[in-house]
Amino acid sequence: MMGGSGRLCMCMFLHPRLRIHRSFTSRVPKDKVEVIPRPKGWPLLGTLPEFLSSGSVSRIHEYVDRRHRELGPIFRDRLGSVEAIFVADPGIVKEIFRHEGPWPRHLIPEPWIIYNRKFGCRRGLFFMDGAEWQEERQRFGRFLLSQARIEAHHPHFQVLSDDLVLGKWTQPIENLEEDLYKWSLQVVGSYMFGEDFRFPEGDLEVLMRNVRELFHQSAAMTLFPPKVAAALHLPVWTSFVSAFHSALAIVEQMVKERLEGFQKKELGMKEDLLTKVLVDLFLAAADTTSYTLTWCLHLLATHPRIQEEIRNTPHLVGGVVNESMRLFPVAPFLTRYLPRDSIISQYRIPKDVLLLLSLYTMGRDEKHFKHGGEFKPERWKEVGVESRFAFLPFGAGRRSCVGKKIALINMHLLLSTVLRHYNLEALNESEVKYEMRLIGVPSESIKIRLSPLPRQS
Ligand code: HEM
Repeated sequence: MMGGSGRLCMCMFLHPRLRIHRSFTSRVPKDKVEVIPRPKGWPLLGTLPEFLSSGSVSRIHEYVDRRHRELGPIFRDRLGSVEAIFVADPGIVKEIFRHEGPWPRHLIPEPWIIYNRKFGCRRGLFFMDGAEWQEERQRFGRFLLSQARIEAHHPHFQVLSDDLVLGKWTQPIENLEEDLYKWSLQVVGSYMFGEDFRFPEGDLEVLMRNVRELFHQSAAMTLFPPKVAAALHLPVWTSFVSAFHSALAIVEQMVKERLEGFQKKELGMKEDLLTKVLVDLFLAAADTTSYTLTWCLHLLATHPRIQEEIRNTPHLVGGVVNESMRLFPVAPFLTRYLPRDSIISQYRIPKDVLLLLSLYTMGRDEKHFKHGGEFKPERWKEVGVESRFAFLPFGAGRRSCVGKKIALINMHLLLSTVLRHYNLEALNESEVKYEMRLIGVPSESIKIRLSPLPRQS
């Protein structure tokens, strides 16, 4: 990562975005620069006791939300060993993306960096920086974001939704999250490798278990230095490593088996690098899409009247997806490091300090979304442009999600198919909460009963 920022300096004079940023910086008089507020903390411990007592890492979004209410849309805090600036103002967020430079950098969880280094693992897009990232991003962006290619796959995407909704789900749903996880991998696999792509069933279950375990252990190392955990071979580290080894081995094996049928020429990549990028695409695709859909189905099941409304106005399905990502974003924070010291909205933002853009807080802020805590798919008919930077479930700028189009089209297809054929009923007895396990997930398994709708004559 340091290498990436070193190379950045070389091109600063050339890149037009950075020239805009220079003139912006110089327009703010020095006496107008404001200090970023910081919560009061204890000597040595800082705010750690309060953070821990408010639920620690699994409730970090609530801790940050409370701090924003107390200190405003921007504040600075140290959580464990991490010093960060938190932002919950769409105007400031927009400026941050204008200042992110040609090779935007985001946070990679430290245990993942240590793992890659320790085991000499070369990894995909999410882990790359600088010119290497740009090259692979362009290559895969052309492939994954191509409207023509996605449209050509549309009929097969519908087949995959029908297989699940009108096939498997004619029986009571036993494990919603697992079904959606497998379906998400099937969607991306068939897009990459062709319609006959099938992930072996047994492997999928092991993969899902291992990915969840590595997320869980990775989150557990947020406050405890992962370097120490690794050096001492603590159980948290060894479980993390064995889950990571196993997940990578399964996907790598599957990718290698399919590489023959894959358009290597079209992408023009060496096999080794191609495998790494594909492995990470699968890992990035599955939990994000399946949890977003899990929340969509839960919201629909707990709002029977809205189910009926959407059957009558099917274009509102997009609003269901947006509401689920606004209320329960899989990524409650976007992360960036700016390539140079900047002044944004009268605040001095030092380069290389972690910026955490609070999507969870902005998504529920009454200023941007009236009755923000409520599920209202119809609100998306009139959400104004000024709220656009308060709702960035796929990120923004050059480093935004490269699987966005595939995810959106497939989530729409699956939800529309469900709503056309079934009534949804929520079976969870207590309120399901949103909690962080590296990504935002339900606090308990979501349980839903589907009952066939009477056939229309
Ligand atoms: C509902 C589903 C999804 C959500 C909410 C989601 C969300 C995100 C977010 C928030 C980011 C970080 C963006 C930023 O920092 O600006 C991201 C990055 C990424 N996503 Fe997704 N994602 C989803 C589905 C997918 C799918 C289906 C794929 C693969 C086909 C995918 C592949 C990636 C990759 C490779 C990156 C890293 C991009 C880079 O660093 O250049 N995602 N995603």
